[in-house]
Amino acid sequence: MNQIAHDRLLIIDFGSQVTQLIARRLRELHVYCEIHPFNRVSDDFLRDFAPKAVIFSGGPASVFAKDAPMPPPSVFELGVPILGICYGQQVMMHCLGGKVERGQATAEFGRAYVTAKNSLPILDGWFQDGPEQVWMSHGDHVSEIAPGFQVYGTSPNAPFAITADPTRHFYAVQFHPEVHHTPKGAKLYESFVRLAGFKGDWTMGAYKDEAIRKIRDQVGTARVICGLSGGVDSSVAAVLLHEAIGEQLTCVFVNTGLLRQGESDEVVGMFRDNFNIPLIHADESELFLGQLEGQSDPETKRKIIGKLFIDVFQKHAAEVGNAKFLAQGTLYPDVIESVSFSGGPSVTIKSHHNVGGLPEKMGLQLVEPLRELFKDEVRALGRELGLPPAFIGRHPFPGPGLAIRCPGEITREKLDILRQADAVFIDQIRKHGLYDEIWQAFVAILPVRTVGVMGDGRTYDFACALRAVTSVDGMTADYYPFSHEFLGETATRIINEVKGINRVTYDITSKPPGTIEWE
Ligand code: XMP
Repeated sequence: MNQIAHDRLLIIDFGSQVTQLIARRLRELHVYCEIHPFNRVSDDFLRDFAPKAVIFSGGPASVFAKDAPMPPPSVFELGVPILGICYGQQVMMHCLGGKVERGQATAEFGRAYVTAKNSLPILDGWFQDGPEQVWMSHGDHVSEIAPGFQVYGTSPNAPFAITADPTRHFYAVQFHPEVHHTPKGAKLYESFVRLAGFKGDWTMGAYKDEAIRKIRDQVGTARVICGLSGGVDSSVAAVLLHEAIGEQLTCVFVNTGLLRQGESDEVVGMFRDNFNIPLIHADESELFLGQLEGQSDPETKRKIIGKLFIDVFQKHAAEVGNAKFLAQGTLYPDVIESVSFSGGPSVTIKSHHNVGGLPEKMGLQLVEPLRELFKDEVRALGRELGLPPAFIGRHPFPGPGLAIRCPGEITREKLDILRQADAVFIDQIRKHGLYDEIWQAFVAILPVRTVGVMGDGRTYDFACALRAVTSVDGMTADYYPFSHEFLGETATRIINEVKGINRVTYDITSKPPGTIEWE
């Protein structure tokens, strides 16, 4: 494990939904960190990992619960700075002799304002203009701080909002500095890692080298196939793998019959022209469309597609010298939306085809080198790997493709209409110079026909919805504020140019409560 030359920070995960955001804030500060679940952090692990600082994440548990998640006591003996967040604060106080009380009247969810009590180097830049906004999300709260600690900030419902023992460099806050709703949170992390002595020399280049090392360790001399969907993620994964294992890699681009207009040519062309990676172009549209016929439930569609992808990959794995591994461009948001922390099914929002849609039994082992990254980080990695800028800037396109933009039953007729409408919409966006301002734009064909009038005749055709959103990482999104002129012009073009659509709507739902895709 100790092959990494960089200073490392250990994040002990107690199950917060936003633990990855802590890692992300640290990567923005060029600090190397790893997240490990609390139950895998043993004394031996700590010794071997030798962190320069430790962060305890938040989490849904209560220190009063039977088998409450705890860090190993030896973490406090390492002599390195520790920052506890929310549950991480409670657990720190609990372990070091303070007290935690059950929530009820003092539970806090959402925005709160913290007032300064004392100054502290880790709060550099805070409280210059009075109280600071923070994001709280806690039931229990600390009621008595541990010996050696002092209070540095309070909020109406959290008298111990910011606590610290500056001698031991133990810091503990009740709020979440990693979320955007704590505007000075990034500054707090910056001060913490500076105090801990990190040099901030961890770059995307270093991430790439580390990812290459991990891929080589994982696959050894085995052959690997990589599923290419045409999106940025799988393309970046493919080029990264090629740098790592060269000839051992074969890419498989599957035409599912659910691609956009011109997509196959564009992707295959991009790979053939720019990279010398063996590429199988598998036309499996009959297989996919055949099995999707008659299906209208979103999760069923996703499961069918996930399974068929694996069938196709397995077939090709056998052909290319018995490949043992399947590489995918799975990202972190795909992972958290598809599985809950505990592995239970309750919070699955949708089964992203390459995570929740995978069959239980699969002859191939997964290689997912992007699993901890967010989209904008994948783009940065793509630039590092020399992918053409136009390709890196492409809007995301989901593996299940047009299937999840065709609510209700999927038919070839609807897919053809959808492809044409989508091409007009994207053309409009490009012509108006808006493509790079938008995270993702597409058309969904709706499962309703509506009455219209064209010339002197009655029409009875499909309605469609335009969707265009802005986002930083796909986790939250807002609709793009097109002008009425743009929307009017686009609607006219779609109705005039696409036979089969006679009504155009614009979807102005944000995420949450909506999701970006319609299914
Ligand atoms: P949602 O619809 O969940 O989408 O807000 C967030 C981002 O993820 C993409 N997406 C997928 N990508 N396989 C993928 O490769 C999937 O199953 C999948 N589902 C959604 C979506 O296009 C958006 O960028």
